Amino acid sequence: MSKSHDKTFKLFDEKSRAAELGGGAERIEKQHAENKLTARERIESLLDPGSFVELDKLVVHTCRDFNMEKNLIPGDGVVTGYGKIEGRLVYIFAQDFTVFGGSLSRANADKQLKVLELALKMGAPVIGLNDSGGARIQEGVQSLAGYADIFHLNVKSSGVIPQISAILGPCAGGAVYSPALTDFILMIKKTSYMFVTGPEVIKAVTHEDVTKNELGGATTHNTKSGVAHFMAEDDDQGMMMIRELISYLPSNNMEDPPRKPCTDDINRREEKLQELIPEDPNKPYDITDLIGAIVDDGAFLEVQAHYAKNIVIGFARLDGRSVGIVANQPAHLAGVLDINSSIKGARFVRFCDAFNIPLITFEDVPGFLPGTLQEYGGIIKHGAKLLYAFSEATVPKITLITRKAYGGAYCVMSSKHIGADVNLAYPTAEIAVMGSEGAVKILYRNKIETEEDHKTVVEEYQDTFANPYKAAEQGYIDEIIMPRDTRPKLIQALEMTENKTETKPPKKHGNIPL
Ligand code: HXC
Repeated sequence: MSKSHDKTFKLFDEKSRAAELGGGAERIEKQHAENKLTARERIESLLDPGSFVELDKLVVHTCRDFNMEKNLIPGDGVVTGYGKIEGRLVYIFAQDFTVFGGSLSRANADKQLKVLELALKMGAPVIGLNDSGGARIQEGVQSLAGYADIFHLNVKSSGVIPQISAILGPCAGGAVYSPALTDFILMIKKTSYMFVTGPEVIKAVTHEDVTKNELGGATTHNTKSGVAHFMAEDDDQGMMMIRELISYLPSNNMEDPPRKPCTDDINRREEKLQELIPEDPNKPYDITDLIGAIVDDGAFLEVQAHYAKNIVIGFARLDGRSVGIVANQPAHLAGVLDINSSIKGARFVRFCDAFNIPLITFEDVPGFLPGTLQEYGGIIKHGAKLLYAFSEATVPKITLITRKAYGGAYCVMSSKHIGADVNLAYPTAEIAVMGSEGAVKILYRNKIETEEDHKTVVEEYQDTFANPYKAAEQGYIDEIIMPRDTRPKLIQALEMTENKTETKPPKKHGNIPL
């Protein structure tokens, strides 16, 4: 090698190493001491080994105020590029908290925008690993403009490519709004926070005392606010969860989800399901026992598992095909539909519909939750979101009523009338305007004198309506099935609907009740 080349290559090596060192050894140590990985370590943990291709490694900021021209770090606080998950292309950006707290400069925003644009053009998911103090304070409006450009592109990409956000540190201000526009948010217990304004500002404005963790920790956003969808113990577990999530999703809205080879018997009958639904209709059971028993290898990736537990949503496979599951949960608030569960369900249904993922609905719902809190909170418009979402979805829709399908909730939960393709029911299904006690109270108000008479009319009502037969006689239920046959029946229905096409009248977009 010539001497001049030696020098040239050395310079390149030095620049490359400087970029890889980010904010320096001390800050990296601090990051590790807080049980956080660095941006590069996270990328390594997330992607298939050796698949990462970095872009814009040497980009520096253009700020010339506050002596910032003397503080140029190659990469400028974000590592961007592309790589593979299970051999499939994904785009990625990972904010580097060791460089100006991962804050967003104009240059740093442009790096993220390049990756977002590529992802949209090439039709592949984009994963954002967020660890950022928000807008870079020294850059003022340049930084705000960078954020707004990212938000705009997030919205343009919504429903075209899956967008996934991991929150891996203290994310404040603008750093939370881009994730909020993406499809899924994952947080890490004890090390990640999301808030629009931090505890100090809150104290000054509202005089409330609240810790960082109480305000915007992983538990808060996974249980109280419903902002986050997944919670992991540490960065490595979080990256594994994102890999699993990606495995269920197509790369873009023009593709079907990837199909996996299925080794689980597609004709598997589950005798234990015959006993799942308690004889007493007021007794709870856990709907995840049913889901686990019938999906391929019992593998179910629950989404928002800790929020609005009266509805269960998540991904699974049937005969290797990805499905989105929406299920009332009788083990929590009797599976009632309320504001939070309606919103949770609606957003998931719309995601699945946007990305060609068939919907399987398990229904056991006593109705909408009554009460002033719900009415004042707008249960009418929020419940309508779920109704709207199921109605507009054109992916295959398969519904199984396991027990209660009462009132408006019967209509909402992917009924035949709002476009479901296959409607099944167990013999234990009760499809009626309301439960027998409630119905008798209204029908026979002041007309029944003895306990004995009350019992007789309740039984009469139950015999007439607390079953699936009236609905089956009308063709609203296509088939009544034994619980043990659930898996083969759902797989048959999925096969039958595989090539479904449904067109809607042309429009710019609908007007979902927000
Ligand atoms: C520039 C920043 C920064 C920022 C942090 N740093 N945030 N630099 N702009 N926004 C720098 C710090 O100066 C520090 O540099 C290093 O990053 C690490 O920060 P620390 O404060 O030491 O870390 P920690 O104690 O862990 O606290 C993290 C933090 C805190 C909670 C994120 O730094 C913080 O509150 N930052 C400001 C958050 C914020 O208000 N951002 C603007 C939001 S407004 P040195 O050199 O000392 O190590 C916004 C507008 C967009 O984003 C709105 C769009 C809708």
